[in-house]
Amino acid sequence: MEQKDILILAIESSCDETAAAVVRNGREVLSNVIYSQIDLHTLYGGVVPEIASRKHIEKINQVIEEALRQAEVSLKDLDAVAVTYGPGLVGALLVGVAEAKAISFASHLPLVGVHHIEGHISANYIEHKDLEPPFICLVVSGGHTHLVKVSDYGEYEILGRTRDDAAGEAFDKVARAIGLGYPGGPKIDALAKQGNADAIPFPKAKVADAPYDFSFSGLKSAVLNYLNGCRMKGEPIVEADVAASFQKAVVDVLTEHAMMAVEETGIRKLALAGGVASNGALRESVMKACEKAGISFYRPSPGLCTDNAAMIGAAAYYEYIRGVRHGMDLNAVPYLKLGEK
Ligand code: KG4
Ligand code: ZN
Repeated sequence: MEQKDILILAIESSCDETAAAVVRNGREVLSNVIYSQIDLHTLYGGVVPEIASRKHIEKINQVIEEALRQAEVSLKDLDAVAVTYGPGLVGALLVGVAEAKAISFASHLPLVGVHHIEGHISANYIEHKDLEPPFICLVVSGGHTHLVKVSDYGEYEILGRTRDDAAGEAFDKVARAIGLGYPGGPKIDALAKQGNADAIPFPKAKVADAPYDFSFSGLKSAVLNYLNGCRMKGEPIVEADVAASFQKAVVDVLTEHAMMAVEETGIRKLALAGGVASNGALRESVMKACEKAGISFYRPSPGLCTDNAAMIGAAAYYEYIRGVRHGMDLNAVPYLKLGEK
Protein backbone atom coordinates (compact mmCIF):
# COMPACT_ATOMS: atom_id res chain seq x y z
CA MET A 1 0.00 0.00 0.00
CA GLU A 2 1.30 3.44 -0.89
CA GLN A 3 2.03 5.64 2.11
CA LYS A 4 0.29 8.97 2.43
CA ASP A 5 2.46 12.03 1.87
CA ILE A 6 3.24 14.06 4.98
CA LEU A 7 3.17 17.81 4.37
CA ILE A 8 4.68 20.05 7.04
CA LEU A 9 4.69 23.83 7.36
CA ALA A 10 7.90 24.80 9.20
CA ILE A 11 8.73 28.10 10.88
CA GLU A 12 12.16 29.37 11.96
CA SER A 13 12.79 32.62 13.85
CA SER A 14 15.60 31.81 16.30
CA CYS A 15 17.98 34.59 15.28
CA ASP A 16 17.92 37.14 12.47
CA GLU A 17 16.10 35.25 9.72
CA THR A 18 12.31 35.06 9.54
CA ALA A 19 11.67 31.90 7.57
CA ALA A 20 8.88 29.52 6.57
CA ALA A 21 8.87 26.46 4.33
CA VAL A 22 6.62 23.66 3.18
CA VAL A 23 8.35 20.26 3.09
CA ARG A 24 6.95 16.95 1.80
CA ASN A 25 8.07 13.70 3.47
CA GLY A 26 11.08 15.36 5.07
CA ARG A 27 13.17 15.57 1.93
CA GLU A 28 11.24 17.46 -0.73
CA VAL A 29 11.12 21.24 -0.39
CA LEU A 30 7.98 22.74 -1.93
CA SER A 31 8.85 26.26 -0.79
CA ASN A 32 11.56 27.89 1.30
CA VAL A 33 11.02 31.58 2.04
CA ILE A 34 13.60 33.57 4.02
CA TYR A 35 13.36 37.19 5.04
CA SER A 36 16.87 38.13 6.18
CA GLN A 37 17.28 40.99 8.64
CA ILE A 38 21.04 41.12 8.13
CA ASP A 39 21.07 44.61 6.61
CA LEU A 40 19.31 46.00 9.69
CA HIS A 41 21.78 44.45 12.14
CA THR A 42 24.85 45.34 10.05
CA LEU A 43 24.33 48.92 11.18
CA TYR A 44 25.11 47.82 14.76
CA GLY A 45 27.86 45.30 13.96
CA GLY A 46 25.87 42.30 15.21
CA VAL A 47 22.38 41.01 15.95
CA VAL A 48 20.35 43.27 18.27
CA PRO A 49 17.84 40.93 19.95
CA GLU A 50 15.10 43.53 20.46
CA ILE A 51 15.19 44.61 16.82
CA ALA A 52 15.19 40.97 15.70
CA SER A 53 12.00 40.19 17.69
CA ARG A 54 10.18 43.25 16.37
CA LYS A 55 11.10 42.49 12.78
CA HIS A 56 10.00 38.85 13.15
CA ILE A 57 6.58 40.06 14.33
CA GLU A 58 6.31 42.39 11.36
CA LYS A 59 7.32 39.81 8.76
CA ILE A 60 6.20 36.40 9.97
CA ASN A 61 2.67 36.36 8.53
CA GLN A 62 3.86 37.56 5.17
CA VAL A 63 6.64 34.95 5.04
CA ILE A 64 4.23 32.11 5.94
CA GLU A 65 1.64 33.23 3.38
CA GLU A 66 4.35 33.36 0.74
CA ALA A 67 5.60 29.87 1.66
CA LEU A 68 2.07 28.44 1.34
CA ARG A 69 1.49 30.31 -1.93
CA GLN A 70 4.74 29.12 -3.51
CA ALA A 71 4.06 25.54 -2.43
CA GLU A 72 0.50 25.85 -3.82
CA VAL A 73 -1.03 24.48 -0.64
CA SER A 74 -3.40 25.82 1.98
CA LEU A 75 -3.51 25.14 5.71
CA LYS A 76 -6.10 22.39 5.25
CA ASP A 77 -3.65 20.37 3.09
CA LEU A 78 -1.07 20.22 5.88
CA ASP A 79 -0.37 17.36 8.29
CA ALA A 80 1.51 19.37 10.91
CA VAL A 81 3.03 22.70 11.78
CA ALA A 82 6.62 22.72 13.04
CA VAL A 83 8.68 25.40 14.71
CA THR A 84 12.15 25.96 16.14
CA TYR A 85 11.69 26.34 19.91
CA GLY A 86 15.37 26.55 20.90
CA PRO A 87 18.17 27.29 21.21
CA GLY A 88 18.29 30.94 20.15
CA LEU A 89 17.28 34.43 21.21
CA VAL A 90 14.29 34.08 23.51
CA GLY A 91 12.29 37.00 22.10
CA ALA A 92 12.96 35.91 18.53
CA LEU A 93 12.05 32.26 19.24
CA LEU A 94 8.82 33.32 20.96
CA VAL A 95 7.50 34.95 17.80
CA GLY A 96 7.76 31.70 15.83
CA VAL A 97 6.48 29.57 18.71
CA ALA A 98 3.42 31.78 19.30
CA GLU A 99 2.66 31.84 15.58
CA ALA A 100 2.97 28.05 15.22
CA LYS A 101 0.73 27.50 18.26
CA ALA A 102 -1.90 29.86 16.83
CA ILE A 103 -1.90 28.03 13.49
CA SER A 104 -1.97 24.64 15.21
CA PHE A 105 -4.90 25.66 17.41
CA ALA A 106 -6.93 27.39 14.73
CA SER A 107 -6.39 24.74 12.05
CA HIS A 108 -6.43 21.67 14.33
CA LEU A 109 -2.94 20.68 13.20
CA PRO A 110 -0.44 18.72 15.30
CA LEU A 111 2.39 20.88 16.60
CA VAL A 112 6.02 19.69 16.43
CA GLY A 113 8.75 21.67 18.19
CA VAL A 114 12.21 21.30 16.65
CA HIS A 115 15.72 21.83 18.00
CA HIS A 116 17.57 24.35 15.82
CA ILE A 117 20.71 22.20 15.57
CA GLU A 118 18.66 19.15 14.65
CA GLY A 119 17.37 21.35 11.83
CA HIS A 120 20.88 22.22 10.66
CA ILE A 121 21.86 18.53 10.68
CA SER A 122 18.68 17.57 8.79
CA ALA A 123 19.44 20.05 5.99
CA ASN A 124 21.64 17.23 4.70
CA TYR A 125 18.61 14.98 4.10
CA ILE A 126 17.18 17.43 1.59
CA GLU A 127 19.91 17.21 -1.02
CA HIS A 128 21.30 13.78 -0.17
CA LYS A 129 18.28 11.53 -0.61
CA ASP A 130 20.43 8.47 0.15
CA LEU A 131 21.78 9.77 3.47
CA GLU A 132 20.57 7.79 6.47
CA PRO A 133 21.92 7.59 10.03
CA PRO A 134 24.29 6.62 11.46
CA PHE A 135 26.67 9.37 10.44
CA ILE A 136 28.98 11.93 12.03
CA CYS A 137 28.01 15.58 11.66
CA LEU A 138 30.20 18.61 12.23
CA VAL A 139 27.81 21.43 13.12
CA VAL A 140 29.45 24.83 12.82
CA SER A 141 27.35 27.96 13.10
CA GLY A 142 27.31 31.39 14.67
CA GLY A 143 26.17 30.02 18.00
CA HIS A 144 27.35 26.39 17.98
CA THR A 145 30.31 24.16 17.24
CA HIS A 146 29.39 20.54 17.86
CA LEU A 147 30.76 17.25 16.66
CA VAL A 148 27.72 15.00 16.74
CA LYS A 149 27.15 11.27 16.30
CA VAL A 150 23.75 10.93 14.65
CA SER A 151 22.90 7.40 15.78
CA ASP A 152 19.39 7.41 14.34
CA TYR A 153 16.73 9.92 13.29
CA GLY A 154 16.29 12.17 16.31
CA GLU A 155 19.04 10.42 18.29
CA TYR A 156 22.20 12.36 18.90
CA GLU A 157 25.35 11.95 20.92
CA ILE A 158 27.58 14.99 21.28
CA LEU A 159 31.19 13.85 20.94
CA GLY A 160 32.77 17.29 21.18
CA ARG A 161 31.84 20.93 21.51
CA THR A 162 33.44 24.33 21.77
CA ARG A 163 34.62 25.37 25.22
CA ASP A 164 34.26 29.08 24.41
CA ASP A 165 33.48 30.85 21.12
CA ALA A 166 31.58 29.12 18.32
CA ALA A 167 33.44 28.87 15.01
CA GLY A 168 31.13 31.41 13.33
CA GLU A 169 31.49 33.76 16.28
CA ALA A 170 35.29 33.64 15.84
CA PHE A 171 34.87 34.45 12.14
CA ASP A 172 32.59 37.38 13.00
CA LYS A 173 34.91 38.78 15.70
CA VAL A 174 38.05 38.52 13.58
CA ALA A 175 36.21 40.10 10.63
CA ARG A 176 35.21 43.01 12.84
CA ALA A 177 38.82 43.42 14.04
CA ILE A 178 40.10 43.71 10.48
CA GLY A 179 37.27 46.07 9.59
CA LEU A 180 35.18 43.81 7.36
CA GLY A 181 31.81 44.26 9.08
CA TYR A 182 28.98 41.86 9.95
CA PRO A 183 28.41 39.02 9.22
CA GLY A 184 32.10 38.31 8.97
CA GLY A 185 32.16 34.67 7.84
CA PRO A 186 31.35 35.20 4.16
CA LYS A 187 33.64 38.27 4.06
CA ILE A 188 36.63 36.38 5.49
CA ASP A 189 35.86 33.50 3.12
CA ALA A 190 36.05 35.86 0.12
CA LEU A 191 39.08 37.87 1.29
CA ALA A 192 41.06 34.76 2.24
CA LYS A 193 41.04 33.66 -1.39
CA GLN A 194 43.47 36.50 -2.13
CA GLY A 195 45.72 35.81 0.86
CA ASN A 196 48.51 33.45 1.86
CA ALA A 197 47.24 30.95 4.45
CA ASP A 198 50.78 30.18 5.61
CA ALA A 199 51.78 33.83 6.12
CA ILE A 200 51.06 33.99 9.87
CA PRO A 201 51.38 30.93 12.14
CA PHE A 202 48.29 31.31 14.36
CA PRO A 203 47.87 28.70 17.13
CA LYS A 204 45.59 25.68 16.69
CA ALA A 205 44.17 25.24 20.14
CA LYS A 206 43.66 21.76 21.56
CA VAL A 207 41.73 20.98 24.72
CA ALA A 208 44.00 18.71 26.75
CA ASP A 209 41.52 16.30 28.37
CA ALA A 210 38.91 16.26 25.59
CA PRO A 211 40.32 15.52 22.13
CA TYR A 212 37.05 16.25 20.31
CA ASP A 213 36.44 19.62 21.97
CA PHE A 214 37.28 22.94 20.36
CA SER A 215 38.52 26.28 21.67
CA PHE A 216 38.56 29.35 19.47
CA SER A 217 38.95 32.23 21.93
CA GLY A 218 42.75 31.78 22.10
CA LEU A 219 42.98 31.95 18.32
CA LYS A 220 40.80 35.06 18.27
CA SER A 221 43.07 36.71 20.88
CA ALA A 222 46.15 35.72 18.88
CA VAL A 223 44.72 37.48 15.82
CA LEU A 224 43.86 40.58 17.88
CA ASN A 225 47.37 40.61 19.42
CA TYR A 226 48.94 40.24 16.00
CA LEU A 227 46.91 43.20 14.67
CA ASN A 228 47.75 45.36 17.72
CA GLY A 229 51.43 44.43 17.44
CA CYS A 230 51.54 45.49 13.79
CA ARG A 231 49.77 48.76 14.57
CA MET A 232 52.13 49.56 17.46
CA LYS A 233 55.21 48.80 15.41
CA GLY A 234 53.82 50.72 12.44
CA GLU A 235 54.05 47.61 10.28
CA PRO A 236 51.60 47.18 7.41
CA ILE A 237 48.75 44.69 7.89
CA VAL A 238 47.97 42.47 4.92
CA GLU A 239 44.30 41.80 5.67
CA ALA A 240 43.97 39.01 3.13
CA ASP A 241 46.89 37.14 4.76
CA VAL A 242 45.36 37.57 8.22
CA ALA A 243 42.00 36.30 6.93
CA ALA A 244 43.57 33.32 5.13
CA SER A 245 45.86 32.35 8.03
CA PHE A 246 43.05 32.63 10.60
CA GLN A 247 40.67 30.65 8.39
CA LYS A 248 43.28 27.91 7.92
CA ALA A 249 43.78 27.60 11.67
CA VAL A 250 40.00 27.10 12.16
CA VAL A 251 39.55 24.80 9.17
CA ASP A 252 42.52 22.57 10.10
CA VAL A 253 41.24 21.96 13.63
CA LEU A 254 37.66 21.32 12.47
CA THR A 255 38.86 18.88 9.81
CA GLU A 256 41.22 17.04 12.17
CA HIS A 257 38.59 16.52 14.85
CA ALA A 258 35.91 15.43 12.40
CA MET A 259 38.24 12.91 10.77
CA MET A 260 39.28 11.60 14.17
CA ALA A 261 35.59 11.03 15.00
CA VAL A 262 34.94 9.01 11.83
CA GLU A 263 38.08 6.94 12.36
CA GLU A 264 37.40 6.21 16.01
CA THR A 265 33.68 5.48 15.73
CA GLY A 266 34.08 3.48 12.52
CA ILE A 267 31.14 5.40 11.03
CA ARG A 268 32.22 6.04 7.46
CA LYS A 269 29.91 8.93 6.66
CA LEU A 270 30.64 12.57 7.48
CA ALA A 271 28.31 15.53 7.03
CA LEU A 272 28.75 19.27 7.54
CA ALA A 273 26.01 21.60 8.80
CA GLY A 274 25.44 25.20 9.94
CA GLY A 275 26.34 28.61 8.54
CA VAL A 276 30.11 28.03 8.62
CA ALA A 277 29.59 24.87 6.56
CA SER A 278 29.12 27.17 3.57
CA ASN A 279 32.79 28.20 3.94
CA GLY A 280 34.67 27.28 0.78
CA ALA A 281 37.95 26.33 2.48
CA LEU A 282 36.20 24.13 5.07
CA ARG A 283 34.18 22.30 2.41
CA GLU A 284 37.29 21.64 0.36
CA SER A 285 39.43 20.58 3.30
CA VAL A 286 36.86 18.11 4.65
CA MET A 287 36.04 16.82 1.17
CA LYS A 288 39.71 16.10 0.45
CA ALA A 289 40.24 14.42 3.82
CA CYS A 290 37.17 12.24 3.20
CA GLU A 291 38.35 11.32 -0.29
CA LYS A 292 41.75 10.35 1.08
CA ALA A 293 40.23 8.22 3.82
CA GLY A 294 37.54 6.70 1.56
CA ILE A 295 34.68 8.19 3.58
CA SER A 296 31.39 9.45 2.13
CA PHE A 297 31.08 13.22 2.42
CA TYR A 298 27.81 15.17 2.63
CA ARG A 299 27.06 18.87 2.87
CA PRO A 300 24.02 21.02 2.20
CA SER A 301 24.32 23.64 -0.56
CA PRO A 302 25.34 27.03 0.93
CA GLY A 303 21.74 28.35 0.97
CA LEU A 304 20.65 25.45 3.19
CA CYS A 305 23.67 25.79 5.53
CA THR A 306 22.63 29.18 6.92
CA ASP A 307 19.35 29.55 8.81
CA ASN A 308 16.24 28.52 6.89
CA ALA A 309 12.93 26.77 7.59
CA ALA A 310 13.27 23.92 5.06
CA MET A 311 15.80 22.27 7.40
CA ILE A 312 13.29 22.59 10.27
CA GLY A 313 10.66 20.89 8.08
CA ALA A 314 13.09 18.05 7.34
CA ALA A 315 13.85 17.50 11.03
CA ALA A 316 10.17 17.84 11.96
CA TYR A 317 9.15 15.05 9.58
CA TYR A 318 11.32 12.50 11.40
CA GLU A 319 10.07 13.75 14.77
CA TYR A 320 6.48 13.59 13.50
CA ILE A 321 6.73 9.99 12.31
CA ARG A 322 8.36 9.06 15.63
CA GLY A 323 5.19 10.37 17.26
CA VAL A 324 6.57 13.58 18.75
CA ARG A 325 3.79 16.12 19.41
CA HIS A 326 3.88 19.29 21.45
CA GLY A 327 1.00 20.95 23.24
CA MET A 328 -0.18 24.51 23.64
CA ASP A 329 2.26 24.79 26.54
CA LEU A 330 5.25 24.69 24.16
CA ASN A 331 7.59 27.49 25.13
CA ALA A 332 10.78 29.01 23.72
CA VAL A 333 13.85 27.46 25.36
CA PRO A 334 16.89 29.67 24.68
CA TYR A 335 19.44 27.11 25.96
CA LEU A 336 17.73 23.93 24.76
CA LYS A 337 20.12 20.97 24.67
CA LEU A 338 20.33 18.64 21.67
CA GLY A 339 18.39 15.44 22.28
CA GLU A 340 16.31 17.01 25.09
CA LYS A 341 12.58 16.73 24.56
O1 KG4 B 1 23.75 28.77 11.02
P1 KG4 B 1 23.74 30.26 10.97
O2 KG4 B 1 23.04 30.92 9.82
O3 KG4 B 1 23.13 30.85 12.27
C1 KG4 B 1 23.30 30.26 13.54
O4 KG4 B 1 22.56 29.32 13.87
O5 KG4 B 1 24.24 30.72 14.24
O6 KG4 B 1 25.28 30.70 11.03
C2 KG4 B 1 25.67 32.02 10.94
C3 KG4 B 1 27.18 32.06 11.08
C4 KG4 B 1 27.74 33.46 11.18
O7 KG4 B 1 28.68 33.48 12.25
C5 KG4 B 1 28.42 33.66 9.85
O8 KG4 B 1 29.53 34.55 9.90
C6 KG4 B 1 28.87 32.26 9.51
O9 KG4 B 1 27.79 31.45 9.92
N1 KG4 B 1 29.08 32.07 8.08
C7 KG4 B 1 30.29 31.77 7.55
C8 KG4 B 1 30.12 31.74 6.14
N2 KG4 B 1 28.79 32.01 5.87
C9 KG4 B 1 28.19 32.20 7.08
N3 KG4 B 1 31.49 31.53 8.13
C10 KG4 B 1 32.52 31.26 7.33
N4 KG4 B 1 32.43 31.25 5.98
C11 KG4 B 1 31.26 31.46 5.35
N5 KG4 B 1 31.19 31.42 4.02
ZN1 ZN C 1 21.52 28.36 12.74
